[in-house]
Amino acid sequence: MKKFVEKTKRGLKGQIIIPADKSISHRAVILASLAEGKSIIKNFSQGQDPQSTLKICQTLGINAEFKDDLIINSTGKLYAPTNNLDCGNSGTTMRFMAGILAGQNFKSTLIGDKSLSKRPMKRVIEPLTLMGAEITSDNFHAPLNIKGKKLHSIDYISKLASAQVKSCILLAGLNCDGKTSFTEPYVSRNHTERMLNFMEADISIAGTTVTIQKSKLHPQKIEICGDISSAAYFIVAGLIVPNSELILTNVGLNPTRTGIIEVVKQMGGNIEILDLRNVSGEEVGDIKITYSELKACTIKGEIIPKLIDELPVIAVLATQAKGTTIIKDAQDLRNKESDRIKAIVAELKKIGADIEETSDGFVINGKTNLKGGCEVETYHDHRLAMSLYIAGLICKEPICINGFEWVNISFPEFEQLCNKLLS
Ligand code: S3P
Repeated sequence: MKKFVEKTKRGLKGQIIIPADKSISHRAVILASLAEGKSIIKNFSQGQDPQSTLKICQTLGINAEFKDDLIINSTGKLYAPTNNLDCGNSGTTMRFMAGILAGQNFKSTLIGDKSLSKRPMKRVIEPLTLMGAEITSDNFHAPLNIKGKKLHSIDYISKLASAQVKSCILLAGLNCDGKTSFTEPYVSRNHTERMLNFMEADISIAGTTVTIQKSKLHPQKIEICGDISSAAYFIVAGLIVPNSELILTNVGLNPTRTGIIEVVKQMGGNIEILDLRNVSGEEVGDIKITYSELKACTIKGEIIPKLIDELPVIAVLATQAKGTTIIKDAQDLRNKESDRIKAIVAELKKIGADIEETSDGFVINGKTNLKGGCEVETYHDHRLAMSLYIAGLICKEPICINGFEWVNISFPEFEQLCNKLLS
């Protein structure tokens, strides 16, 4: 689907509610499926990725129905599937489910779309194999054929700070005798740990190490907050479109996700957190943003996992910051739904940005008047589609985004909410 975006003549104004967090939605439906009894999930994401996870849980025998909320009724057990389990475009679904399925007493096959079938699964196959798992694949790519069996605990030290790998191992460890620990170089998003704790699992955290023991999960009422990774597009739009002043409500503010707020503050952006509260074990608040003069900054190291999904739209932000913004230590961006380093650099160059690719990030010189007036590509990647849309709002000439339908992976409400702020 082609989408034309043109320069807005006025700022973004008003207030919108940010839709449900994708990461937390995956975890809620998976953990509710493993808990014996009735769980109630409020505000489950409409994005295609969490819907893939939900469908897989149903294929594994979980009773799930939408009333006002998503109601999960589980015996606490999963049942052998009669079909392949389709993860669609969702890396989170494939890596989490691999951790669970490896320890079941049945065989299963995880498949994905073209993009997911190219993404690296060695990062989960390797530690799961150390736990005794039997997984065959095409050179560590999907389809993953899993012969479920009893796994044993491990202490795993990961070179990568990755919440997907960490969660995979914790979910496998939940079903093992003994203590399983996972250590990562920096803390990645910790929603799995928090939700396991909320559901009374035996889990403990010391620095960057998480330890889990076999546990029985207790069903809960889980309310899912808004996704800061979705809010990020409007945070950036509010900062770079002149005359903007907007409020984003119900945004998840877990400190392992708020790297973008730290960066905006460092760049001198006008951002304020209002009404900080706690919802189902997660920090939540409202965010006020006003158009700002921005200065460049360097983004590297420990903060990277806290803003990994926001880097494409941070690149757009950096085109409007005075000076040289440097992003490094983000080499894993090349393994996302697309090679996001190559993709964002190529597409922002087309519309007039001064941006260069490095092996582990990019360097942007600003402030640039983006010219637009061309077609840009999404690389089948939802975050590229939305980042380019925001860039289009300040381009001198309209842009045409090819493959805009990919937004539905995480944020089907994106354009409607954008229009609300622009009207
Ligand atoms: C996610 C973790 C991140 C992120 C992805 C969602 C999660 O991936 O990029 O969109 O929900 O755990 P990695 O943990 O592989 O960096």
